[in-house]
Formats: sequence, structure tokens, C-alpha cells
Amino acid sequence: MSGMFITFEGPEGAGKSTNLRLFAEALRKAGCEPLLTREPGGTPIAEQIRALLLSEHDEVMDADAELLLVFAARAQHLNSLIRPALAAGKVVISDRFTDATYAYQGGGRGIPDSRIAELENWVQGSLRPDLTLVFDVPIDVGMARARARSELDRFEQEQQSFFEAVRTSYLRRAAADPQRYRIIDASGSLEQVGAALQPVIDEVLERWHG
Ligand SMILES: Nc1ncnc2c1ncn2[C@@H]1O[C@H](COP(=O)(O)OP(=O)(O)OP(=O)(O)O)[C@@H](O)[C@H]1O
Ligand SMILES: [Mg+2]
Repeated sequence: MSGMFITFEGPEGAGKSTNLRLFAEALRKAGCEPLLTREPGGTPIAEQIRALLLSEHDEVMDADAELLLVFAARAQHLNSLIRPALAAGKVVISDRFTDATYAYQGGGRGIPDSRIAELENWVQGSLRPDLTLVFDVPIDVGMARARARSELDRFEQEQQSFFEAVRTSYLRRAAADPQRYRIIDASGSLEQVGAALQPVIDEVLERWHG
């Protein structure tokens, strides 16, 4: 038995975490109990790496150091939580995963995709998400939501051009593989976004019932 690995992606304030809760609730109502997790993080060690990645430091974090920390957290998360859950047949939903690395460390910081792909292959082997939802929202809308919610973290304090590159990278990856990716227009009300998610929920339940 092998489970299903679903990832939620998109820039800050797109509504990933909010919709992940609603999505999981809909699965539970249909009798499917998903494992919910997030990146960076998901296990105690990986959450410590998350804290290091998101907090402010007196020193500028080197882009390669940042990339390696992201994958160090991912190795821990995959091997101690995600792989065992998938092997047990679970539906696993992660709030961000490797597409975020291509978007932020690749698009945002300018690290070549080929460098990221090497680490992806090393850490993940052949494991890739079965389904990736990209929540797409204009940068100013997402940032306004994130700002209204809480203080901005180290990434959220980046410039407009950084976020435009993040968004472009997500959309480019999604367009290249429509089998795996679903782009969700997240600019409307929560009700509108929820309606856009319904076909994806139906699809997951259909696959899960197999
Ligand atoms: N469609 C929407 N319309 C209005 N407000 C929204 C919508 N979706 C989410 N929000 C609100 O915007 C804020 C950010 O949403 P959420 O935390 O789900 O985004 P996120 O994508 O997880 O962001 P981050 O990347 O920063 O974790 C929350 O306060 C949430 O209630
Ligand atoms: Mg979130």
C-alpha cells in the first residue's frame, strides 16, 4: 500500500495554511484522515532548522547555507515522518515542499535550478509529490494579508522583485507539468477559493478510494 503525497504552495498570504485546514476537514468528513505537516519543519529537529531559517540574524545568511539548511530539514522530515506515513498508506499534506525551494532559493535568490535539482535527487531519490496545489495571488494582495496577520519573517521582508520572481517560478513549474500541478486562483474570497478547491478534493477522494 502506498499513500498519496499532496503539497500546498504559493507566496506569503496566498491562503495555503487556511485552505489546508479546510481541505483536510473535507477529507475527514469523507472518512480519510490525512497527516498534516509543513516545511521547513514537520519534526522537532526540522522545526529547529525552520526557526534558524525564518529568524533575523546580525549576520547575512549565505544563500548556499540557506539552501543546504532547507534540504537538511527536508531530509529529516522525509525520513522520519513523510516516508513512513506514505508507506503506511496515508494521505500526507505538506504546507510547502521542494517547489518552494525552486521558488525562493531558485527564483528569489537566483540559485540555478540545476543546483537545486542535484540536492532534490540526492535527498528525495525518486520521491515527488503526487499532487501540488499552487495558490496564486498578486504579490500586493498576499503581502497585505500576511501583514494584517502577523509580524513579517526574514523572507517576508524581501523586496517586491523577490516575490515577483517567486510567483513566476511557481507558475512556470506548474505550467510545465499539468498532470501534477493545479493552479488555484487565490485572489478572491475564501468562499471562491473553496469552490475552486472542490474539484481537487473530489479528485483526491476518488484516487484514495482507488
Ligand atoms: N481568500 C482570502 N480572502 C481574504 N483573506 C484571506 C484569504 N485567504 C487567506 N486569508 C487570510 O490571509 C492571511 C494569510 O492566510 P494564510 O496564513 O492561510 O496564508 P499562507 O499562504 O499560509 O501564508 P504564509 O506563506 O505566510 O504562511 C490569514 O489571516 C487568512 O485568514
Ligand atoms: Mg502559512
